[in-house]
Amino acid sequence: MNRKFSIDDNHIINLGKIHSRAGNITVIEGDQLIPFSVKRVYFLYDVPGGAERGGHAHRNLFQLIVAASGSFDVILDDGTKRETFNLNQPYKGLIVTPGIWRELVNFSSGSICLVLASELYYERDYIRDYNYYLNYKNDTSSI
Ligand code: TYD
Repeated sequence: MNRKFSIDDNHIINLGKIHSRAGNITVIEGDQLIPFSVKRVYFLYDVPGGAERGGHAHRNLFQLIVAASGSFDVILDDGTKRETFNLNQPYKGLIVTPGIWRELVNFSSGSICLVLASELYYERDYIRDYNYYLNYKNDTSSI
């Protein structure tokens, strides 16, 4: 079923911002604002200028991607359509469903890419070859 997700199921959500005495707080509660329970959190940092991350899809993993600091672009591709989402505010997050190819590019200096994920790390959940991915999306035999 997860291979059926399209770009249209992926979108930026407003996480909200609590103004506190000095600075702001953004809270992300699993199963509330985002459509999954969070099992894993990781963050990318010290990404060299010009570097590209991602370049894969997941079979079952949901993610929320946040530019906790700085900015970067997330290019999503569902095998039919490609769309670029610019993330540049820590209170905005991109929901990425399973079955979507993603590439992360244009990291600003010092940026931090925070990722909340629905599953623990599992290499067999990855599809890292784009041609394999296109075949996977077009194969309806096991749906
Ligand atoms: P990968 O997810 O391919 O990076 P990105 O999508 O950010 O470009 O992960 C890079 C390496 O880090 C990969 O060899 C596996 C390892 N890794 C873990 O061990 N655990 C994790 O939770 C993640 C996200 C990656």
